[in-house]
Amino acid sequence: MIQFPKNFIWGAATAAYQVEGQNANSDWWHWEKKAGKENSGDACRHYELYEKDFDLAQGLHHNAHRLSIEWSRIEPQEGKFSEKELKHYLDVILALRARGMEPIVTLHHFTNPAWFSESGNWTDKKSIERFRRYCEVVVRALAPHVHYWITINEPMIYMTHAYVLGWWPPQIKSIWTGRTVQKNLASAHVAAYCVIHKIYEEAALAKPAVSISQHLQAFEPCDQSLKNRLAAFLRHQWFNLGFINAVMRHKALDFLGVNYYSRQQVDLKHWGIRNLAEDVCQKNHDPRPKNSLGWDIYPEGLYDLLLKLKKYNLPIMITENGICDAEDNLRWEFLQGHLKSIHRAMEEGVNVTGYLYWSLLDNFEWAQGFAPRFGLIDFDYATQKRTIRESAKKFAEVCKTGTLN
Ligand code: GCO
Repeated sequence: MIQFPKNFIWGAATAAYQVEGQNANSDWWHWEKKAGKENSGDACRHYELYEKDFDLAQGLHHNAHRLSIEWSRIEPQEGKFSEKELKHYLDVILALRARGMEPIVTLHHFTNPAWFSESGNWTDKKSIERFRRYCEVVVRALAPHVHYWITINEPMIYMTHAYVLGWWPPQIKSIWTGRTVQKNLASAHVAAYCVIHKIYEEAALAKPAVSISQHLQAFEPCDQSLKNRLAAFLRHQWFNLGFINAVMRHKALDFLGVNYYSRQQVDLKHWGIRNLAEDVCQKNHDPRPKNSLGWDIYPEGLYDLLLKLKKYNLPIMITENGICDAEDNLRWEFLQGHLKSIHRAMEEGVNVTGYLYWSLLDNFEWAQGFAPRFGLIDFDYATQKRTIRESAKKFAEVCKTGTLN
C-alpha cells in the first residue's frame, strides 16, 4: 500500500477552449474554419454546464480542479474588457469553492484572441504588454478566491507546434521565429508573475503561488551510441529545461507545474538544428503499450524527470497526466503506474504537492478533433450525456483516502 500526504491536491484538469464551446473570438476558432479542420463547435457545453461537471468531480472526491480562462472572451477586442465574462469566471471559481475544491487557474492555454493574432501575435514584442494587461484585469477580479495561478500552459509545445512545426495556428515554420516567440513567452510570464504578486500585496492577500505548466518528455537515446546519448541530453536541456531556466533567472516561479504524457526515443539522422530538435527512432524496439494516439505508456520516465527537477528546489505539482483510451482498458493501469512513480520520487525527497489528471471529461483535442478520449468521464457529443468511467471510480478512492493499494 502507498500512502500520499494528508494535504495532497487531487483532481483533474480542463482548458477553456477544449470544453466550453462557442469561443468564436478565438484565433483557433477562425483557423478551424479556414484550415478545414474539425470544428470545436459546442465542445462539451461546459460554459453553461460547469456546475454539473463540478458536481461530478466533487462526487469523485476531487479536492481541486484546474481550469483555464479564455482570453478572447475577456478581451474580445483590443483593450475592451468584458465585465460579463469576468463575472462568469468569478461564478465558476465560486462554484468550485462552494464544493470544497481548490481552483488552479491557467491564464493562457494555447488560444489567443483573434485580434491578437492578427496584430502580430507572439512574434511581436507588444505581446508581452498585451498579455500582462489581460492578466492584470483577470487577477484583480479573481484574486480573493484563487491561490494557484498558471500563467502559460506548455510554452514549448505551443511555440514548437505553432511556430516551428507549423501544425497549429498561425502555422509558421521557422526556428528563428520560434526563438523569438519563446523569448516573448518567457518575458510575458515574468511580467505576469510580477503583476500577480503586486496585486496580492496591494490587497494585503496571502502570497499566491504562480507557475507555468511545463510539458516534459522523457527523452532517451534509442541506442547507446555517443551521438544519440548526446542528442537526447541536448533535447532534454533545450525542450524540458530551457524555459524553466529562463524564468528562474528572474526568480519567477513559486512552484513548478509539470505535464507529463510519454517518452521520445531519440535517433539522430544528421547533425543539424532541426534534427537535434525533431529526429525520433522509427524502429519501435523496446515496445510498450500505447494510447490511442500511439504514444508509449512510460511511467518510469516521470520518476526520472522528477528526480532531475529536484535541483530547482521548488514544490512540484503534476498539472496534467493522462491517457486517451476510449475503451477504458488501460486508464487505471496508467494511473497506478504514474502514481507509483510519483510516490517513489517523493520517497527520494522530491516535494510533489498534487496530481491533476488530464482530463475531467473527453473534450476537443486540438488538431486531432474529438476522436481521442482522455476523460475520466465519457462524453456523448450527440446528447451531451456524461458517464463516469470505471477507472474514474478507482481513482476516486485514491482521492478520498490518499492511498493506493
Ligand atoms: C496540453 C494540453 C492539453 C491536451 C493534452 C492531451 O497542455 O498539451 O494541455 O490541452 O489536450 O495534453 O494532448
